Amino acid sequence: MRILQVALLVSWLVIGGLVYLFFFKGSVAEGSDGRTAIVLTQGERDFVLTEMRGFLNAVQQIIEGLDEKDMKKVKEAAHEVGMANMAEVPGSLMRKLPMGFKQMGHPTHAAFDELAAEAADMGERDKIINQLATLMQNCVACHNSYRLEVGKE
Ligand code: HEC
Repeated sequence: MRILQVALLVSWLVIGGLVYLFFFKGSVAEGSDGRTAIVLTQGERDFVLTEMRGFLNAVQQIIEGLDEKDMKKVKEAAHEVGMANMAEVPGSLMRKLPMGFKQMGHPTHAAFDELAAEAADMGERDKIINQLATLMQNCVACHNSYRLEVGKE
C-alpha cells in the first residue's frame, strides 16, 4: 500500500505546484536592478501603466482638493481609482501578476474608496491627509519590489 501513499503524496505535490504556478507565482523574472520583473505583453504593460497614471492623477487631484477645501473634488478623484475600476483587469493579465503584487494593488484601490468615503462623510482634512500618506506607502513598497517588462508573445 506504500506505493499508493507515495502516489497520493506526489499528486498532492503536483496539484500544489500547479496552484502555486497559476495563482501565486505569476509571470516573473529577475530584474536587472534587483527588483522582480513582471513579464507582460506590450498591451498589458500599457494597461498597467495607464492605471498607474490614473493613480498619480488621483493623488494630485486629492491634494489640490484638500488645498482648495473642495471635498467633492477629493471624493471624485479618489473614487476614480477605487475598487470599481479593478474589475476591468482582464483575467489573462490577472494570472500574470504575482500574489505579492496583487496583495499591494488590491488594498490600494480599497484605500482610495475609504478616502472617498471620508471625503463624502465628515470630510476631515487631517484624517484624509493621514489616509493618503498611509495608502501611498503601497505605491512606494510596490515600486521598490516590482518592475514591468515586455516579453515575447
Ligand atoms: C501593486 C504594485 C503597485 C502599486 C500599489 C502602485 N504601483 Fe505604480 N507602478 C508599479 C509598477 C510595477 C510600475 C512600473 C515600474 C517599472 O517598470 O519600473 C509602476 C509605474 C508607475 C508610474 C509610471 C507610469 C508610466 O506611464 O510610466 C506611475 C506614475 C505610478 N506607478 C504611480 C503610482 C502611484 C501614485 C501609486 C499609488 C497611489 C502606485 N503607482 C501604486 C506598481 C505599483
